[in-house]
Amino acid sequence: MASNGICDRVAIVGMGCTAFGEHWDKGVNEMLVESSNEAMASAGITADDIDAYWLGTMGNLSGLTLSEPLKIQYKPVTHVENFCATGSEALRNAAYAVASGAYDCVMAIGVEKLKDSGYSGLVGSGATVTDGAVPTTTAPAKFSMLAPAYYKKYGLDPEKGREVLSRIAHKNHANGAKNPKAQFQKEVSMERITNSPKVAGQLGIMDCSGVSDGSAAAIVVRAEDAHKYTDKPMYIKALSFIAGPAEGPLSQEYDFTTFPEVVSSAEDAYKQAGVTNPRDQISMAEVHDCFTPTELVLYEDLGFSARGEGWQDVLDGTFELDGKLPVNPDGGLKSFGHPIGASGLRMQYEMWLQFRGEAGDRQIDSPKLGLTHNLGGQPGRCVSFVSIVGSERSN
Ligand code: COA
Repeated sequence: MASNGICDRVAIVGMGCTAFGEHWDKGVNEMLVESSNEAMASAGITADDIDAYWLGTMGNLSGLTLSEPLKIQYKPVTHVENFCATGSEALRNAAYAVASGAYDCVMAIGVEKLKDSGYSGLVGSGATVTDGAVPTTTAPAKFSMLAPAYYKKYGLDPEKGREVLSRIAHKNHANGAKNPKAQFQKEVSMERITNSPKVAGQLGIMDCSGVSDGSAAAIVVRAEDAHKYTDKPMYIKALSFIAGPAEGPLSQEYDFTTFPEVVSSAEDAYKQAGVTNPRDQISMAEVHDCFTPTELVLYEDLGFSARGEGWQDVLDGTFELDGKLPVNPDGGLKSFGHPIGASGLRMQYEMWLQFRGEAGDRQIDSPKLGLTHNLGGQPGRCVSFVSIVGSERSN
């Protein structure tokens, strides 16, 4: 695959993120203003300094969704959408625009207000609630199939598998409990997770990410200009976006223990960033834990664990905050919910805080390289985004 990448050519010099949760008192406009104001303030700039904007949000038809609330004065605003990886797609396009030389300073911003839209994981994939006469499968049902497939392939006793999934949820809630911007800020016991009411297949409520509102934003400039804005820029090492052929649902052979799209985007990103051993070289990762078995499969698809060994790594504490490779230090989708356009940028926000030493009780010791992974769609029919960011510029 030909992907030249833009390693170390652009940097993030400011970020903002609203608290995620049920914002009955705020609309999309208020959240966009809040995250963009925080991002501009952290970069020490005003709207006059921004040349162009990329907005990630679902179902809106134009850039006016952003230009109106921010009162943007006759500048380009591009609306992008790519399933649940929409926020990451906004950042990717914004970064490429700066790398091309077209603009000096741009903003990538994502937003979603899901709570009062009626959206729920238990609504079928065709967005509206039906009368039950039309068969649909829900997001939890689609992802629930990963768990038994994984157990069968690797001979894992389902009870042990249950413990592994509960450990993943437990870890993410424990991290979220240390995060003042998370939707759920409480630790949840293993017992409560394991016995939570079933939603689909073997997945209980506590295996699912929540539903929330939120917005996050990033200011992107050329790497050589980064120190004009901040003493601690975050350099973009790799951005990879892969769309699969969507053949999974049509095939009896589809293997629910891997997302080929993730494998492909990870390989591409590692090549761009010069990473040869992700388990040793990546200091921390934010991954798309829409459901607990998704996170289990991602460990292996991203090369953090050998095939069939991710479950053992979970039990060994490899991905805990104090483990070898902390995954979802901010609490992940499990603690933040998943306001679609915002999630990819929320993941970058945690990288930003960690590199700056501003992650409070969640702080990881001297991180060098961080990875974010954003998935859109369902097993067998999805898009995948992987980014690698770092605290130092190597060229
Ligand atoms: N994890 C942890 N706690 C959750 C939760 C979750 N996923 N969902 C809800 N809760 C908590 C709420 O905070 C609330 O707690 P409280 O009573 O202490 O305030 C309680 O459970 C009930 O909340 P409610 O909003 O009524 O839950 P719900 O039954 O409407 O929603 C789910 C539960 C699982 C259906 C919902 O979280 C969901 O749809 N998740 C999946 C989202 C999804 O599919 N996203 C797409 C990813 S690809």
